[in-house]
Amino acid sequence: MKLLKRAVSHTTAYLRSAIGIKKQTETPFKTIAHRGASGYCPENTLAAFDMAVEMKADYIELDLQLSKDGEIVVIHDLKLDRTTNGKGRVIDYTYEELRQLDAGSWYSNKYTGERILTFDEVLNKYKNKIGLLIELKKPSVNPGIEEMVASVLEKHNWQSFGENQIIIQSFEQAAMKKMTSLLPGLPIGVLVNYPIKKKDAEEIAQYAEYLNVKWTLVNKKLLAYLAAYNLKTFIWTIRTKKELEQIRQYSVEGIATDYLKLFK
Ligand code: G3P
Ligand code: CA
Repeated sequence: MKLLKRAVSHTTAYLRSAIGIKKQTETPFKTIAHRGASGYCPENTLAAFDMAVEMKADYIELDLQLSKDGEIVVIHDLKLDRTTNGKGRVIDYTYEELRQLDAGSWYSNKYTGERILTFDEVLNKYKNKIGLLIELKKPSVNPGIEEMVASVLEKHNWQSFGENQIIIQSFEQAAMKKMTSLLPGLPIGVLVNYPIKKKDAEEIAQYAEYLNVKWTLVNKKLLAYLAAYNLKTFIWTIRTKKELEQIRQYSVEGIATDYLKLFK
């Protein structure tokens, strides 16, 4: 399956260049709006995702966790305190309770009334409009999230989405292996924040298409390992011009940022 997907992807890229279709962006890499356009709006909200679409990012990145009653909700921290007016752990509240919270005013009064979204809402609004880079946040403290995400994706007929228009990623490799067995063919990314050895890349390439590393870890050796095992990388998270200049010397598949204006 992985080989077939790669062949299709190479053919698409060839045909695109042969007939002169421009990519959505002019950059030599895919642009990823980290937690939406989170440098300008409260992260993981409709405002942040809408702005990312407006600014023509290739992907929105979003973080998934479970509510107490098993709804898949879009929020980064395990606790509510930083990005809502609630307190305590996300998983200790039902979806109805989470829905009452304000997820915008911590950022600015302009965004009062933004809510914690469900995964289903995000798919309804953004599938086929923009790529979705979906992170399972701590699956080990959100037991069963893999099966629930798979079932929502099946409901949304994920296989009809464009090539690599949906990618699931996590720092937890066991969860990503589980996703490949639940939905074979779904593009998988492994997030890494430590220096990679060749054998790590070899092992991850058995089930993933992407090895998404913290930008400070990118170097020629890493890129050689990725090339050897046909892995792509979306690097994270660029926040300044200086960081972008440093990273531009490397050829990477995509770059995540809070500030899409850096890429203009
Ligand atoms: O896309 C990678 C990145 O989102 C991982 O870090 O903490 O921002 O979720 P974090
Ligand atoms: Ca994330």
